Amino acid sequence: MEKKNKGYLTLKESRQIVKENVRKMKYYENKKKKNVDPSYYQTVMKDDNNVVEIDNLETHFFTDNGTVKSVNGVSFNIPKNKIVGVVGESGCGKSVTSLSIMQLVEAPRGQVVGGQIRFNTDDLGYDENGHKLAYDITKMPMQQMFNVRGKDITMIFQEPMTSLNPVFTIGNQLDEVMYVHYPNMQAEEVKAHSLDLLVQVGISMPERVYKSYPHELSGGMRQRVMIAMALAGNPKLIIADEPTTALDVTIQAQILELLKSIQKKTGCAIMLITHDLGVIAEMADEVVVMYAGKVIEKGTVSEIFKNPLHPYTIGLQASKPLITSDSDKPLYSIPGQVPNPINLPNTCFFKGRCDKCISKCNGAYPKQIQVSDTHFVSCYLYEEDGEDGK
Ligand SMILES: Nc1ncnc2c1ncn2[C@@H]1O[C@H](COP(=O)(O)OP(=O)(O)OP(=O)(O)O)[C@@H](O)[C@H]1O
Ligand code: SF4
Ligand SMILES: [Mg+2]
Repeated sequence: MEKKNKGYLTLKESRQIVKENVRKMKYYENKKKKNVDPSYYQTVMKDDNNVVEIDNLETHFFTDNGTVKSVNGVSFNIPKNKIVGVVGESGCGKSVTSLSIMQLVEAPRGQVVGGQIRFNTDDLGYDENGHKLAYDITKMPMQQMFNVRGKDITMIFQEPMTSLNPVFTIGNQLDEVMYVHYPNMQAEEVKAHSLDLLVQVGISMPERVYKSYPHELSGGMRQRVMIAMALAGNPKLIIADEPTTALDVTIQAQILELLKSIQKKTGCAIMLITHDLGVIAEMADEVVVMYAGKVIEKGTVSEIFKNPLHPYTIGLQASKPLITSDSDKPLYSIPGQVPNPINLPNTCFFKGRCDKCISKCNGAYPKQIQVSDTHFVSCYLYEEDGEDGK
């Protein structure tokens, strides 16, 4: 339901929203089944070389102000052995997309209401047509998700202190993760494995760190510990949501270098979420640019940086400071604001801020256009006969 008045909701509208929210939340909660046949949450991969395929994902939050369409038809793949950078302004749905992959969206208010998240677990075999079987995470019961979350797919958050428990030592916490993944392991083996993980993430005095409490470590060390925890179950995919934003620049570079070397060594895939285009350019193989809950452009790192097409991607790049620039001109900033995710326009969501608008832009939301095998953009400028003047 949409707000009638621009600035406020009447009591009647508020009541209606609450009523509708309760109905929707009940509907989606009741859809979550506990004891189902595995075939209910099995599907097939479109391409065996992907770890995850996100297909038209929609994740909404039913708030007192209306439905927030945080993720609004997002599709992209995370190939094996690759780093996929996800970039976009604050609030564009990067974190909610990653939380949807982990089935960690704050329910009942937040719900995946559409689409598929196919996870290539590599141990389900093939169907009768020779297609690789996979899990559809959007349908997986919570109990089955426990086997995937934190083991096959792990997550590193921005602020390691909030992910570590302040009253337990690093050793306790790492060992606990190991016990969860390998319940039959003996205590000495668990400790040896935990120490080995600390060495793998570049900690030179693992015994000392093992006995330390989180507050005794620096931010960079804590983030290394979080990476060690993420590695404990030999993940196929690591989701790193702004993993270095809380760290200073030199430590940022070290942590990013560490993530890159771990990716190379283990062959896992990484979904790297960041605001920082410089980080993406340095780290990613493929780039997904999000805007207001949608993917507006995606491609390989060289396509996105050498040939950015969407006016938003071009604007993002123009707003990045360059060390080589000797211009006195103030740094470019994209004018205007992201539209309200509760009342999204029926046109291109970037229209209000776009300086390249053409008359077609008054039409419906633009379709995705394939520019090369790997490069896609949603913008009328690239439709055949796109440039028709203002
Ligand atoms: N628990 C929630 N309840 C209501 N709305 C939410 C909730 N979590 C996220 N949202 C909304 O969903 C939208 C997308 O949020 P998200 O956290 O994914 O943005 P983001 O791209 O990760 O931004 P940032 O770069 O600031 O981390 C935002 O409009 C946000 O307000
Ligand atoms: S579709 Fe039109 S308004 Fe939207 S980004 Fe492209 S040119 Fe700008
Ligand atoms: Mg976020």
